[in-house]
Amino acid sequence: MKILYAKDYESMSRKAANIISAQVILKPNCVLGLATGSSPIATYRQLIQWYDKGDIDFSACSTVNLDEYCGLPKDNEQSYAYFMYENFFRHINIRMENTNIPDGMNPDADAECRRYNGVIRDLGGIDLQLLGIGHNGHIGFNEPGGAFEKETHCVSLTRQTIEANKRFFDRIEDVPTKAYTMGIKSIMNAKKILLVASGESKSDILYRMATGPIEPGVPASILQLHNDVTVVADEPALKALLANAPEMVSGLPESRKSFSDMAMAMK
Ligand code: GLP
Repeated sequence: MKILYAKDYESMSRKAANIISAQVILKPNCVLGLATGSSPIATYRQLIQWYDKGDIDFSACSTVNLDEYCGLPKDNEQSYAYFMYENFFRHINIRMENTNIPDGMNPDADAECRRYNGVIRDLGGIDLQLLGIGHNGHIGFNEPGGAFEKETHCVSLTRQTIEANKRFFDRIEDVPTKAYTMGIKSIMNAKKILLVASGESKSDILYRMATGPIEPGVPASILQLHNDVTVVADEPALKALLANAPEMVSGLPESRKSFSDMAMAMK
């Protein structure tokens, strides 16, 4: 696992966008696994700017999103389909028929999960999967305690996740309690993984993800077993790693490096 330092959210987003952009340039017909949440928003914004300048072309790309709430139609402002359209797809030249998101309105969970696994398989798998991380270590909507070997499945969201996501809804009762999500197995099958994290509230979980035991209690800890994971995190999110395992963080500026050397020497 490579962990890259970024000074702040904007710089984290530019670095992440650079990695995605390199993927699209190297393989124009690549399959991008995409994520929602506040963490990747400025990454998408940066990619849109480069697209506007003519530096990147999405016309041959396909996308598969990690997850979707059950019971929200595509035109509901809180659905992930709406999020992706508003924050990314409508600004670039991706073909909408090449974008894929679980259908939260399909009441037949087994059929929907089967369909979505088939979509990923028929595309030949995911070249680069973008991830955020929940405060409890969830990736996609794979909550703590879930089995590592699952592909797309239907989950009940934890109280903590519902609490964290209620800021996007008028009332907490409006937050869906279930979601369809790619499973850990689907995520681990991606050829490359890029995880973005920003803000001090993610510091402890990033530290546990990168250094702790690999356990279903911290779903993201499984990423330690993937052979091509890049984490791009800003300084507040790296607080615990910089204090306790600074040698794991690459790309520190010179001023920060001497500080970390000191921290290591004092251990
Ligand atoms: C949601 C999404 C995740 C996302 C997480 C963190 O639960 N399903 O994919 O990583 O929130 O969101 P944020 O980036 O807003 O902290």
